[in-house]
Amino acid sequence: MGRLDDRVAIVTGGGRGIGRATALRLAEDGAAVVVNDVDAEPAHETVELIEKAGGTASASLHNTVNRAEADELVRTTVDRHGKLDIVINNAGTTRDKMFHNLDDDLFDFVFNVNFKTAFHVTLAAVQHMRAKAKEERETTGRPAYHRKIVNTSSVAAIMGNNGQYNYTAAKGAIIATTRTLALELGPFGINVNAVAPGFVETRLTQNKDEGDGTYGIPEASRQLMKALIAIGRYGQPEDIAAVHAFLAGPDSDFVSGITIPVAGGQLGTM
Ligand SMILES: NC(=O)c1ccc[n+]([C@@H]2O[C@H](COP(=O)([O-])OP(=O)(O)OC[C@H]3O[C@@H](n4cnc5c(N)ncnc54)[C@H](O)[C@@H]3O)[C@@H](O)[C@H]2O)c1
Repeated sequence: MGRLDDRVAIVTGGGRGIGRATALRLAEDGAAVVVNDVDAEPAHETVELIEKAGGTASASLHNTVNRAEADELVRTTVDRHGKLDIVINNAGTTRDKMFHNLDDDLFDFVFNVNFKTAFHVTLAAVQHMRAKAKEERETTGRPAYHRKIVNTSSVAAIMGNNGQYNYTAAKGAIIATTRTLALELGPFGINVNAVAPGFVETRLTQNKDEGDGTYGIPEASRQLMKALIAIGRYGQPEDIAAVHAFLAGPDSDFVSGITIPVAGGQLGTM
């Protein structure tokens, strides 16, 4: 028996990094997983990895910055897998710029990918989840089981970070709205929580000189960050996937409205 047998999950940004590790982990725990990513190739690769390991998955290429695409993502998930129990709002990106150089386009792009995707997917998912929970409450007096919304913030929203006004605006909004939604959705047995990763090795945290310059951070900052992590190593996508999975599963049924820093005891996050 897997802890997520018979559950259906959406993981946004599931093609790479933390999202891929989370999709694999939820599938390993028994969930059918819809791997949502705007990049087709990595999304399909994640699906293949899940299927090779004996799990169930399908790909979605919806860009949920657009509300109609979020509605379509949830509609196709329910059509294909019969229902929706878990949403992992993980899609995110960075385009760092010091505040005095920021413009509306760069603000909106980063804010929308990190926040509006979570807003829209949750809004679409909750229509389905609330309706099911209400039906169950009417017949048996309470929801049959807990449904889960898991958001992905960042320790940058707790501590602040140079060059990330746009990103921390979105990640701070994730923390605040996680609390509000936990209040509204608790009566329907829908738990809403967030994970705030620290430094995790993915393309967002690679040495900026090694990629095409779009993602990454200067090597000097990478080294400085490492020195601040009590556990003494960078995080790996699987470290975050484990906490996403905890918040998606039955062991966290009495946990709602919180943001868990997963940062290896990074200075300033405890
Ligand atoms: N890596 C870290 O150190 C770190 C730290 C704190 C928080 N986070 C957060 O964790 C999450 C995952 O980050 P990651 O490091 O794995 O990044 P990543 O770039 O490796 O993966 C992110 C994935 O999201 C996808 N994506 C981008 N826009 C999308 C959209 N509109 N809809 C669907 N998918 C979209 C990308 O194509 C990519 O595959 C993000 O929310 C990020 O902000 C990461």
